[in-house]
Amino acid sequence: MKLPGLIDPHVHLREPGATHKEDWDSGTAAALAGGFTAVLAMPNTQPPVTDKDSLDHVLGVANTKARCDYAQFLGAGPENSQQVFCIADRSAGLKMYLDHTYGPLRLDNMLLWMKHFSNFPRHQPIVTHAEGRTMAAVILIAALYDRPVHLAHVSLREEILLIRAAKEKGLKVTCEVTPHHLFLTQDDVTNLGDGRSEVRPPLAQPSDRDALWENLDVIDCFATDHAPHTLEEKDGPKPSPGFPGLETALPLLLSAVGGGRLTMEDIIRRMHHNPQVIFNLPVQEDTWIEVDPNAAWEINADHTYTRCGWTPFDGWRVRGKLKRVMLRGQMVFRDGEVLARPGFGKNLREIVDKG
Ligand code: NCD
Ligand code: ZN
Ligand code: ZN
Repeated sequence: MKLPGLIDPHVHLREPGATHKEDWDSGTAAALAGGFTAVLAMPNTQPPVTDKDSLDHVLGVANTKARCDYAQFLGAGPENSQQVFCIADRSAGLKMYLDHTYGPLRLDNMLLWMKHFSNFPRHQPIVTHAEGRTMAAVILIAALYDRPVHLAHVSLREEILLIRAAKEKGLKVTCEVTPHHLFLTQDDVTNLGDGRSEVRPPLAQPSDRDALWENLDVIDCFATDHAPHTLEEKDGPKPSPGFPGLETALPLLLSAVGGGRLTMEDIIRRMHHNPQVIFNLPVQEDTWIEVDPNAAWEINADHTYTRCGWTPFDGWRVRGKLKRVMLRGQMVFRDGEVLARPGFGKNLREIVDKG
C-alpha cells in the first residue's frame, strides 16, 4: 500500500555539539527508515541556532550530510528578535521554549514572548514548547497578536481540551502529539526505569493518554519529537529527557490502524497533509512510501539507524512495516536498507534545485 512521504515537524538532530547522540547523517537515515521524507530540525543544539552565523553553519552541515529533505528552526532568545526576523525566510520557523527542557533556550518573561510574536514574519510559523498553564498563556498572546501558533507535544487532558475550546472560539492554534504520549504513561515507568522514562513533557496518566485518543479530531499532527540521548546518559546520574522516535512512529500508528483505533486517512492527514500546510512546505514531487499493513514484527533497538542505540519500545510487537521509500524519483530506502547518500537531502526553504 502506497502513502505520501511522511513529514516530521519535530526532530532533534544534535549537530552541532552532540554528535555522539546523533548527527545529520544518522538522524536523517533514521528518518528515511521510519518513512519520513522530510524533517524539521529543532534549534536546541550546542551552540543553539539563534542567528545568521549559527544558521549558516547548520545549513552547511545539512547540505553535505542530510539524506532526506529538511528545514531548520530558529530558537527564540532574549535578544534576537531582530536577527531572526532577517533570516526567517531561510528557516522552518521560530521555536520558543517557554518551559524547562533540554538545552539552554528558555524564555521566562512574557514580554520577550510578545516581542517575538510582534516581530517574527507573519507568514512563517511559530512553534512553542509550553506545558499546562504556559500553554494557556501563549495561546492568549498569539491571539492578542492575531497570529497562528503551533503547540508542540501536547500530552495532558487539560491541554487538549483547552486547545479544543480555543479552536471552537476560532483562534488560530494547531497542535501535535507524539506517539510516546499516545502509547506510554506513568504506568510504564517501572518497566522502562527512571532514567529511560525521562521525557519532556513527562509521561502522563492513563486518563491523559485516553483524552488524547478521545480528542483525535483536535490533533493536527503526529510528530515524533525524536530526542536521542545515549543509554549511558539515560542510565547515568542526571538522565537527559527525551526519546528517539523516528523509526517507531509509523509501525506503532499502523498497529493502531490494525486495531481499529485509527484509519490510514487519519495517519496521512496528520503526518503528511497537515504538516505540509501548517509549515508551508513545498510538494515533494515523485515522493511516496510503501507499507505492508499486515506484516507483524518486533521492534528491536539493535536494528535501528539512530545513533543513540535504544528505544522505549524495544520488544514491542507491531503490525505494519515500511517496505520502500521514494524521494524525488530516487529509491532511498528498500527492505530495511537506507540507500540515499549523505547530501541527497534538500533544504525545503531553498528554491535552488540540487538535482
Ligand atoms: C528534547 C531534547 O532532548 O532536545 N527533550 C524532550 O524530552 N522532549 C527537548 C524538547 O523537545 O523539549
Ligand atoms: Zn519540547
Ligand atoms: Zn523536542
